[in-house]
Amino acid sequence: MPSDTIDNLLHESRRFPPDPEFAANAVAGPDLYEDARRDRLAFWANQSRELLHWHKPFTRTLDWSNPPFAKWFNDGELNVAYNCLDRHVLAGNGDRVALHWEGEPGDTRTITYAELTADVKRAANLLTSLGIREGDRVAIYLPMIPEAVVAMLAVARIGAIHSVVFGGFSAESLRSRIDDANAKLVITADGGYRKGSVFPLKPAVDAALADGGTDVRKVLVVRRGGNDVDWVEGRDLWWHEELPQVDADHEAKPFAAEHPLYILYTSGTTGKPKGIVHTSGGYLTQAAYTHKYVFDLHPETDVYWCSADVGWVTGHTYVVYGPLANGATQVLYEGTPEYPKPGRWWELIEKYRVSIFYTAPTAIRSFMKQGRQIPQGRDLSSLRVLGSVGEPINPEAWIWYREVIGGNRTPVVDTWWQTETGAIMISALPGVTTLKPGSAQVPLPGISVDVVSDAGVPVGADEGGLLVITEPWPSMLRGIWGDPERYQETYWSKFGDKYFAGDGARRDKDGDIWLMGRVDDVMNVSGHRLSTAEIESALVAHPFVAEAAVVGASDETTGQAVVAFVIIKRSHRDQAAAVDVNAELRSHVARQIGAIARPRDIYIVEELPKTRSGKIMRRLLRDTAEGRPVGDTTTLADTTVMAIITEKLAGGVASSED
Ligand code: WT7
Repeated sequence: MPSDTIDNLLHESRRFPPDPEFAANAVAGPDLYEDARRDRLAFWANQSRELLHWHKPFTRTLDWSNPPFAKWFNDGELNVAYNCLDRHVLAGNGDRVALHWEGEPGDTRTITYAELTADVKRAANLLTSLGIREGDRVAIYLPMIPEAVVAMLAVARIGAIHSVVFGGFSAESLRSRIDDANAKLVITADGGYRKGSVFPLKPAVDAALADGGTDVRKVLVVRRGGNDVDWVEGRDLWWHEELPQVDADHEAKPFAAEHPLYILYTSGTTGKPKGIVHTSGGYLTQAAYTHKYVFDLHPETDVYWCSADVGWVTGHTYVVYGPLANGATQVLYEGTPEYPKPGRWWELIEKYRVSIFYTAPTAIRSFMKQGRQIPQGRDLSSLRVLGSVGEPINPEAWIWYREVIGGNRTPVVDTWWQTETGAIMISALPGVTTLKPGSAQVPLPGISVDVVSDAGVPVGADEGGLLVITEPWPSMLRGIWGDPERYQETYWSKFGDKYFAGDGARRDKDGDIWLMGRVDDVMNVSGHRLSTAEIESALVAHPFVAEAAVVGASDETTGQAVVAFVIIKRSHRDQAAAVDVNAELRSHVARQIGAIARPRDIYIVEELPKTRSGKIMRRLLRDTAEGRPVGDTTTLADTTVMAIITEKLAGGVASSED
């Protein structure tokens, strides 16, 4: 955690009790905690029955006979898409707007629940006509357009499994995800809009599939960017040409509660991203439950907006499954907050009268830098709940969010969770909890967490420790695709009976939890998870590079930033000297993984600090990258290495220009 954040934590002591009027109308009351405490499993069973439609009701809530492999609502059957669509239409809410979509250039589409249901039915028939069956994997590589939502729900509707790949990931990253899951079909677009121009997507799909060897037989292409695309006859199909050719009607068949819904890849401590597997009944239960209570959703009147891309888990749970299961009306926006000028988000909030807004601290901090005049030029009075996710929100940003965006009136809920947890785990409940800026506060009703020492023993108030989840929860990951051992090893081997989240935390005297950042080699850049090992292996794949070490250094806006230390191969020094090697390596990483992984700084060094057993001491490199005096170097094989690196950095050889 940056040291200015720690100062800030110490100095912000304001508390925000619920506004009585808000509390009187809130969907959550203190009874929610009592119900869950009385009988946790009965609580979840009731939530699930209340929030979802079960084609075949379940009779068993949890099967934990073979930990860590949980089965929730196991003998029940449901259809996830039916829950997000048909049942709202059947209940008479077909005319309710599901999506207020706005493209970056300013084009708009308003899609009701009836229309979205019709779109998904056709898309489901199209997938079936292309040979996609229950359990098959479909890769989705799309911009933030309604078709992304339609594609995900169509896959879910026929019991296939989607693997959404964020549109900012490279062809290489796409390929490794297609391979790992043996996807049969890719759904993509020609391109999408970002920062005023079209970014092409189809070429990355073509590159990913170029040398064959995958199970992909068809590529469905949505026309969005209008950019020219290469076409592989017999493989590529236009979405808009195929859809009219299939039946409009489609009956949603039920699937078992534990039927897989999706795979979503996330970075871990090793070079290879893990395919996190989520299933249907438990996932949808907790998605709907958290979306309703954490955001105090009143679906008839609220307009909800989560700014996340569907390529991340936040987009899965809080753009697609949670809000649609709850019949919410939401805003979906394609582009960046800065286009055509800063303040586009506030313009959208004013235009659509958004009442619930969910975004990341990194975005809030960049708005703070631009100044409060920009949001203050807009009418944001419709807002009544604000949410934050992705990394700890520093109290200064929390206060700014509440004051400037929330008009000093709205609750701000800081929500802690992970790709693996599937849905929010720790958060205040607006209308119930007295808010404490900077703390994610308390586990939600039905969730059990603890802060423990390395030995697994609960630590005392205000002592640092590791965050663990002590009881299975409905939306927990069911495993890592194709690798049950890695699932056990990564999350359950450290403490045996507790899920190890990878986060440091402390609990204060009031019982509120403060997240202290990752304790492993995982970085958090702009609320997205990146692995040091993955970027290091991308760097050493470059012909110039002999060795590389990557650290996450604190960054004022993005939380952490990628900083790389690189040794150039002796044999390539002349070649490297002839080009801008920093720029070359930075774009190499962007090509290999995606722009999000591009290092902020690259330092060319002669040696890396290593222990006698050859382990790179990233901690020391982080000290240097953050401009701190370097810590204890006595365990280094060569204690002079750090002095040389520090001196070199002070000489200003860094490159951080874009
Ligand atoms: C990691 C999970 C959950 C969706 C977005 C990221 C960090 C997430 C918070 C928060 C402090 C947070 C943790 C976690 N994190 N939310 N409110 N306060 N830290 O999902 O990519 O799976 O990353 O993000 O370190 O382990 P993800």
